[in-house]
Amino acid sequence: MRRTVIAGNWKMNMTPKATRAFITELAPMVAGLDKCDIVLCVPYVDIATAVEAAAGTNIHIGAENVHFEKSGAFTGEISAEMLTEIGTEYVVIGHSERRTYFGETDATVNLRTKAALAAGLKVILCLGEVKEERLSGITNEIVAMQTKLDLAGISAEELKNVIIAYEPVWAIGTGLTATPEQADETCGVIRSVIAELYGAAAAEEITIQYGGSMNDANAAELLSKPNVDGGLIGGASLKTDKFTTIVKAAN
Ligand code: PGA
Repeated sequence: MRRTVIAGNWKMNMTPKATRAFITELAPMVAGLDKCDIVLCVPYVDIATAVEAAAGTNIHIGAENVHFEKSGAFTGEISAEMLTEIGTEYVVIGHSERRTYFGETDATVNLRTKAALAAGLKVILCLGEVKEERLSGITNEIVAMQTKLDLAGISAEELKNVIIAYEPVWAIGTGLTATPEQADETCGVIRSVIAELYGAAAAEEITIQYGGSMNDANAAELLSKPNVDGGLIGGASLKTDKFTTIVKAAN
């Protein structure tokens, strides 16, 4: 059975001090809610504090990006080994904000995913269509193409450490959520592409999250859909009570 994963994506929010306070408050609220994996993906400078504050709890810590080279002249970048050495377990790759504002492409997403997997990180691979693509009726083709390009050259064994986050770009940070039916249908399309690439068993096993304005009010309905195996949550992951409600819905 595939795992449900509820992951927060803090984006460029929270200082190390705020991180410690947040996790100290959250830990008892989500203690024992073990029917899903709980992850907080936080800014690089918050990771060490987050790992320390989350030690001995059921909260796992992730980064929001990683570079694809092991080391070298890449000013401002962070390698996978730097992340694993400080206790990072997960990393978000290919978020639409990276693709839109920082020139991320399917080719670089693929390279970053390979580097992260080689270092032993679990990858939360983000993909999804923009509004014009949904309105043009090409959502299925877009997510199929992204799935194939982003996972090119990744083995079935490596895929076990990949979570896919289906995030319709028009729903991120906008308050517009895909309907549960839209989320289920498109996560199902991604699952069928995984079946085509890796076989039916791999498709059954892979965790596919929905992301895009998931919150404490709509999570239960979205998570009740058979193809939605969790959530990648931005805004609502910055409040311990809202995030806990989502974790409870997943449980
Ligand atoms: P949101 O962000 O929940 O604030 O829409 C989701 C995401 O960007 O992963």
